[in-house]
Amino acid sequence: MQLTRLTVEHAAEPLALPTLRPRFSWRLDAGDARHVRQERYELQLHTGGTLVAEASGGGESVLVDVLDADLCERTRYEWRVRAWVAVDAEPTPWASAWFETARVDLDGWSARWVDPAQQPVTRDGSPNPFAPNVNDDPNEVKLHPAKHLRQQFTLASAPASARLRMTAQGIYFAELNGVRVGDECFAPGYEGYHKLLSVQTYDVTDSLRAGDNVLGVVLADGWFAGRIAFTGTSRQYGERLRATWELEVTGADGATTIIRPDAGVRSTTEGPFRCADIFIGESYDARRELPGWSAPGFDASGWDAVTLAPVTEHLVAFLGEPVRRVLELPAVDVLTTPAGETVVDFGQVTAGRVRFTVRGPAGTKVTLEHAEVLDAEGNYLNNIAGHNKDQTDHYVLRGEAGGETWEPEFTFHGFRYARLTGWPTAPAASDFTAIVIASDLAYEGSWASSDPRLNQLHHNVVWSQRGNLLAVPTDCPQRERAGWTGDIQIFAPAATNNADVSLFLARWLRNVRAEQGEDGLIPIIVPMPRAFDEPDAPPDASDDGGEIFAIQAAAGWGDAIVIVPHVLWRRTGDVAFLARNYDAMVAWSDLQRRQAAEHLPPRLAGVQLSERQRANHALLWNGEPNFGDWLTPSLSDAADPASIMEAPRRTAEYVGPFFAGQSLTLLAEIADALGRDAEASDFAARAAEVRRAWAEEYLDADGRIRETLMGVFVLALAFGFVPEAHRDAVRRQLVEAVHANGDRLDTGFLSGPYLLPALWDAGERDLARTLLWQSECPSWLYEVDRGATTIWESWDAVKPDGTVGMSSFNHYAFGIVDDWLFGVLAGIREASPGYRRAVIAPDLDAPLEWVDAAVDTPYGPLRSAWRRDGGAVGLTVEVPPSTEAEVRLPSGWAIVLEGPDAGSPDAEGGDAEGADAGAGVRLGSGRWDLRAVRG
Ligand code: BGC
Repeated sequence: MQLTRLTVEHAAEPLALPTLRPRFSWRLDAGDARHVRQERYELQLHTGGTLVAEASGGGESVLVDVLDADLCERTRYEWRVRAWVAVDAEPTPWASAWFETARVDLDGWSARWVDPAQQPVTRDGSPNPFAPNVNDDPNEVKLHPAKHLRQQFTLASAPASARLRMTAQGIYFAELNGVRVGDECFAPGYEGYHKLLSVQTYDVTDSLRAGDNVLGVVLADGWFAGRIAFTGTSRQYGERLRATWELEVTGADGATTIIRPDAGVRSTTEGPFRCADIFIGESYDARRELPGWSAPGFDASGWDAVTLAPVTEHLVAFLGEPVRRVLELPAVDVLTTPAGETVVDFGQVTAGRVRFTVRGPAGTKVTLEHAEVLDAEGNYLNNIAGHNKDQTDHYVLRGEAGGETWEPEFTFHGFRYARLTGWPTAPAASDFTAIVIASDLAYEGSWASSDPRLNQLHHNVVWSQRGNLLAVPTDCPQRERAGWTGDIQIFAPAATNNADVSLFLARWLRNVRAEQGEDGLIPIIVPMPRAFDEPDAPPDASDDGGEIFAIQAAAGWGDAIVIVPHVLWRRTGDVAFLARNYDAMVAWSDLQRRQAAEHLPPRLAGVQLSERQRANHALLWNGEPNFGDWLTPSLSDAADPASIMEAPRRTAEYVGPFFAGQSLTLLAEIADALGRDAEASDFAARAAEVRRAWAEEYLDADGRIRETLMGVFVLALAFGFVPEAHRDAVRRQLVEAVHANGDRLDTGFLSGPYLLPALWDAGERDLARTLLWQSECPSWLYEVDRGATTIWESWDAVKPDGTVGMSSFNHYAFGIVDDWLFGVLAGIREASPGYRRAVIAPDLDAPLEWVDAAVDTPYGPLRSAWRRDGGAVGLTVEVPPSTEAEVRLPSGWAIVLEGPDAGSPDAEGGDAEGADAGAGVRLGSGRWDLRAVRG
């Protein structure tokens, strides 16, 4: 028995922990033992050999709060913990880990900005999201070269320890004495830079030496100044690139020196990165490399002087996992298309870029363009329309006889295919590797079944998750690459099954709070592209899709501030997600309430309303333009961009009250979890009032909803807007709508997550299964059958006749069905926050031979596997230590305990309650093999 996976605030041995009163977590590894439960623990915290804190307690092992005073910043701590478990009188051995606190007092940052000699970034962009490039100059002309910065300094001796803290306006990487610092991509990451800017911390102890040392930095436009978001607008945060750093060097005697930028820093734009835009692409001229530029001895006398300026921005310590190169995908084929072009196929839609090896004469220029699909004929198709969406890299060879290998540095693309031009020899697949780039999250969930098509669907969701959790949670990694709040609101539950997204989303929520308006407004995108409200590039509402710019407070988008922390709390058990965001949630909900009182739905403008109707509508938040049930299939057509606003027009009036009411319900639960009892009852009462008002205004005398869209029925049922007496009427409407649509879904972004649950909870289980296994468009398996390797933005992105649309092939929103695969087909659900208690309720009536899935809970992996065996089903459940799981089978099934487990006191018959509780059995920790039989 031992303790493993020691973390502080969700982080394993962080070098710059931004929290000075961290909570501690560990896991019990109990081998094959069952019913293992921690009874007691002891924890000690040291710094430099001195005991700082000591604590002991009982069964808690996740986010244990033992400190009653702040720790010091910029300090290394060691901690160790041991535990006693129920079945063993001896403690576990001590397990130990370390962490370092960040420089938290960043207001005291005295290092200055290094502002190199540079051409300011010019404004470019188009208010029309689908407009082609207006500036046709070659990239090397309209964009600017990356900047190299160089600081030489002397150290009297090699350090005992050294930390480099750095950030930039732009994106950067650093080198010390010719060696790359760290392995991250696109530091400092993407934030609402005008509100906050993250500082990275690197351990550079081994890169420094006595005598001369050189720190080099390369800076490119990145999200700060580059052509980003769907308008492709540059210099959204600023037009000059700058970097700032402090190098804290501790000698063997404990004395520290801090090296900051000074007037001796030199810069140049003469390096090999001739231009680099995070969206457009990179142009690299290998003939212009600067060998030795970041090491002593290089002659930088011809480089430019820099300007130094005070740092006045709000700096924060970076939180979470940086973006890294996370996987490599060797090319699977080099195609010659019917049009005679050369296209490299990587077999998988991904976010990243291509590393290649090429041999040819110096000066040869090769070009790679990136796209996610081929057209119906098999030709290269740039599926991303819009301004500054080139996704094109250029490489100019230095002409090395043995060949040369290159990968871009400051850009990434959404692609599966790369079109090749200028390649000097016959290209071979082995020359190319796709480098997958993503926030480096631990993907530890797993899901597999006997149905290869469902396995592919799960695979597609994981790849869309990986491609879109890149610095911030994005809609898609090629077109907008933007932190649309609605998309992650929808996808968050699925995300938590596949990966640990705690810190990633905590960092993003920090931005959401920073960007919240004083009136409580949660932006539709975070970080919110600033071009949306800048006077020199007013969005044009008359363009196709231009109505989008009128949308500010959007139902289901802004509600991310309530729903995302709620999901994180349920799945991780961390109540801090609620506490930290509570004020922001309340302010958002208050904004919904105020706007509800002020505006009527456009449909009712000028209509004579009774007093009661007026009073009801004053409670219903539906007078604001919003995205409605975005991309409702029957209302939108991938081939016709103008159709995109039809779902908002038709459904905005409905989704507004649904989400405002649901947010109030969640707020009641959240306030309760935070011990704010009075507020909890107030929210619950308001939620009930919204639902009552809605039912009075939108249900007819027979209890039916007047609107005929499937998504409206789904949300009304799932969010409890239909009074009990009328639920059956609305259930029938939903079932009729599904049948009328050929048993195919017709739900948009907002209702999609609730379609299968609404049917399931209404007792329509066969119909839910039919929809999941449907293969006609629109359906999940239709995409799988068309060879999808990720989840598409539009169900009909490839039409049944093979026509390929201009949309994103990597949008995770509709991938939320993955949560159904885990929660229903494998049946893994949290019964209490953080899975301290879990329910295993697999759908044994599903048309499958077996399912095997696991979620990595804070206590360890929770696994549910089942396999048919004649008419019976063998079930394997693995329950992490210190937790328990209740196995509940569908009605008509019963559990029998066989073999060594027969009559075991470990498994107790549970109380059979509700439709799912045909045979409840409570299990303690450990692995259990059970048998389910019909009867
Ligand atoms: C994005 C979405 C986003 C939406 C807002 C689209 O262009 O790609 O995923 O949520 O706009 O309606």
